[in-house]
Amino acid sequence: MGEMEDLRVTACTRCPDLVDCRSRIVNGTGPDDADVLFVGEGPGANEDEQGEPFVGRSGTVLDDQLRAVGLDRETVRITNCVRCRPPENRDPTTEELENCREYLEREIDLLDPDVIVTLGKVPSEHLLDRSVAVTKEAGDVVDVRIEGTPRRVLICVHPAATLYDRSQEETFATTLQRAADLAGVDGSDNGGGQTRLDGF
Ligand code: URA
Repeated sequence: MGEMEDLRVTACTRCPDLVDCRSRIVNGTGPDDADVLFVGEGPGANEDEQGEPFVGRSGTVLDDQLRAVGLDRETVRITNCVRCRPPENRDPTTEELENCREYLEREIDLLDPDVIVTLGKVPSEHLLDRSVAVTKEAGDVVDVRIEGTPRRVLICVHPAATLYDRSQEETFATTLQRAADLAGVDGSDNGGGQTRLDGF
């Protein structure tokens, strides 16, 4: 394992292309005891610049929908399959995914989340170890073993998919609602209002 203190990778040079492309390693963000772990594909330009996952347009889509279901960004953990930006935003290769897997597995192990939400095809296929038709399977909960431990994976479309295909907005919203339900979050009075039955 490369140098790592807890959940953070501070030095790694396993992937030559990514080492060339990155300006920094982008670690996961959020509480180390969060109930929900979101896993994306890898950092893009904004994430590479700011050192945090999902801070660009996809991040705005994710943040908005998290808020809508009563799961604020500050309460969940967000990470990626690979922690360094691939050149020209290409998909990470199988080898790169393998190189970084140990860091992801360690993050999952230390966090021990109630549910892992895979954002898009790459993280879904990486964690389920099979091909996944994300649009069709979004919202499905799949039990998998990760390093021998049973984990609950909720398949989700990538937030960016909602920017290109409006019909995916509802799929994304429904899936995040399911994540909130699985984590036991009640978003019914989200926004500070009282529920309708209050006072009765
Ligand atoms: N897309 C991803 O998959 N991960 C990020 O961190 C940002 C965009």
